[in-house]
Amino acid sequence: MSWTPSSWREKPAKHIPEDYPDQAHLSQVERQLANYPPLVFAGEARRLRNRLADVAAGKAFLLQGGDCAESFKEFHPNAIRDTFRVILQMAVVLTFAAEKPVVKVGRIAGQFAKPRSSPVESVEGVELPSYRGDIINGMDFNEESRLPDPGRLLQAYSQSAATLNLLRAFSQGGYADLHNVHRWMLGFIERSPQGEKYEVLADQISKTLNFMNACGINADSTPNLQQVEFYTSHEALLLGYEEAMTRIDSTSGEWYDTSAHMLWIGHRTRQVDHAHVEFCKGVKNPIGIKCGPGLETEELLRLIDTLNPKDEAGRIVLIARFGSDNVQKGLPDLVRSVNSAGRNVVWSCDPMHGNTLKTDSGFKTRPVDRILSEVRDFVDIVSSEGAYPGGVHFEMTGQDVTECIGGAQAISEEDLSSRYHTHCDPRLNGEQALELAFLIAEKLQSMPQKHSKTIPATSIA
Ligand code: PEP
Ligand code: CO
Repeated sequence: MSWTPSSWREKPAKHIPEDYPDQAHLSQVERQLANYPPLVFAGEARRLRNRLADVAAGKAFLLQGGDCAESFKEFHPNAIRDTFRVILQMAVVLTFAAEKPVVKVGRIAGQFAKPRSSPVESVEGVELPSYRGDIINGMDFNEESRLPDPGRLLQAYSQSAATLNLLRAFSQGGYADLHNVHRWMLGFIERSPQGEKYEVLADQISKTLNFMNACGINADSTPNLQQVEFYTSHEALLLGYEEAMTRIDSTSGEWYDTSAHMLWIGHRTRQVDHAHVEFCKGVKNPIGIKCGPGLETEELLRLIDTLNPKDEAGRIVLIARFGSDNVQKGLPDLVRSVNSAGRNVVWSCDPMHGNTLKTDSGFKTRPVDRILSEVRDFVDIVSSEGAYPGGVHFEMTGQDVTECIGGAQAISEEDLSSRYHTHCDPRLNGEQALELAFLIAEKLQSMPQKHSKTIPATSIA
């Protein structure tokens, strides 16, 4: 069967709602979206693929992060700005440590659909369909809110467009200028040990910039000191929306999903003969594949070959998410078999989704020490198999939330209720995210450097 943006409809599909009360309304909305402007351009997705090819070659590092799920209710410019600046801060820390450019990819401007472990949720004897993300239904626990509503696709599109517009302004309009490295500090982090550590680094950068300026290298001669490349990504889950956003690129004649630069296939929807893989097969964006417990080596190789038959560099990012208890058991075989088959991939680590637990008081949380332990094991395992541990994937926010326990702030189980705001999974707060960046930086610095170590002057942060 030949591929089209709608050929996924012939395949079994998990986690896509079938209970829209008005299917005709859904189809009408999808047709409407298909006529809306693309959110990203094919050329940008191609550039990201080139950057990821550098990561695959060990010449750069990937930092991917953002909300578990964006929400309509919490849509606010300050939240976008704060997530953006924590990512910039983490990138600065990692760039210094890895001595490599850091490719920055947000889980943002489109991360609205969620796979759920159960299709229904029960509260005090009342059973309703689960919340599936704001692009599908509402979080409020009542029958009306939990009905899938096609109008939500349009709202998700417009929120994504406005978010992307602000992100483009931040990354190109001066906010991301390295001279602002001190100003990216968030108020609540400033007085923390992480904040102090960051200030020391920021001082070093400022001094370096002054020195470079004295040598004639400044924003006039090197505009990249003033700008960053920032890319967007989300899980390609609600395929009707993704199909509607898929267009032929006039330059290359190839299909691109213009809803984001990069898409990923989730742990629950990566069956090679199912709809999500079918859809992703035909679009040329970089594709992430979540790799977790239960994924067999042959299955992974089949997935890679289905999605990237020509073994193009920068197309596939394998995102390991085993959990700190399972990573030693599950990851080595996968890395070994992909490596010995000679496939060109990026290995990245999502230390969030395998480390979720429920406290006695009913909060979903993640202990920071388990998150860190998984990243450390990931780095050791991937490098001892002769591959390059090229990236990390976090659920985080710039807000001062209390959702993950531990870290330098020592957030306890009792603290969780104080600022627990997530719509889905628990996120690292700004301080925890920065702390992890420093700890990962230490880990990367302690590794024997087998790979190329040059920083092009144009990609400092
Ligand atoms: C996610 O990244 O939000 C997610 C649901 O992850 P996974 O598919 O790895 O469980
Ligand atoms: Co999540």
